[in-house]
Amino acid sequence: MAYRVIAIDGPAGSGKSTVARAVADRLGLEYLDTGAMYRGVAFAVLQRGVDPTDVAAVADVARSVTLEVTRSACIVDGEDASAAIRGAEVTTAVTAVAANPEVRVEMVARQRSWVVERGGGVMEGRDIGSVVFPEAELKVHLIASPEVRAQRRAAETPGLDVVAVAADIRRRDVADSSRAASPLVEASGAEVIDTSDLAIPEIVDAIVGLLS
Ligand code: DC
Repeated sequence: MAYRVIAIDGPAGSGKSTVARAVADRLGLEYLDTGAMYRGVAFAVLQRGVDPTDVAAVADVARSVTLEVTRSACIVDGEDASAAIRGAEVTTAVTAVAANPEVRVEMVARQRSWVVERGGGVMEGRDIGSVVFPEAELKVHLIASPEVRAQRRAAETPGLDVVAVAADIRRRDVADSSRAASPLVEASGAEVIDTSDLAIPEIVDAIVGLLS
């Protein structure tokens, strides 16, 4: 294929973001956090006073919003939303936004354009290997036990309660895996890596090793 695309999918707390960034650095490729795009749409939905469950209105927001997702920032309609997209309000609203089929059509089109403009890249998300780039050079599906994932999330943010984080992760797992539009599934041909007992450099080595 013409583009060098590495697809990294997996649930919340599987280590995707840290691993995908490191893989991009090792390979000299650009990196795109597609979850930040869905979070950016959810941020715009809230900013515009739209009900996240209003399917048609949310789809209009997705088609009209200006999103600039870079390695370190998420700019939504010219406003720096990098911190807000990680907050509780957006994290709750994004579940309905990401389940909206028209939102997904729009985001997938933007993600494919992103690759075409850059000639390739490392993309992380839930449906990269299954929907966005099924023909990717390498498809990786990261998994980890719910306990490990909750501990990782809690460690990132001091003061967070592991039990509450575990409950939120379970809620999001069920929502992401059971929705009708592009549920989180293992893409055919994906390499499954259980990251529960692996350190980040070991996971990165394993992924880069799969390319050679
Ligand atoms: O990876 P994350 O937690 O930042 O993702 C935010 C939300 O977007 C989450 O509900 C899963 C969803 N998502 C998706 O449906 N498809 C993607 N490619 C990336 C994220």
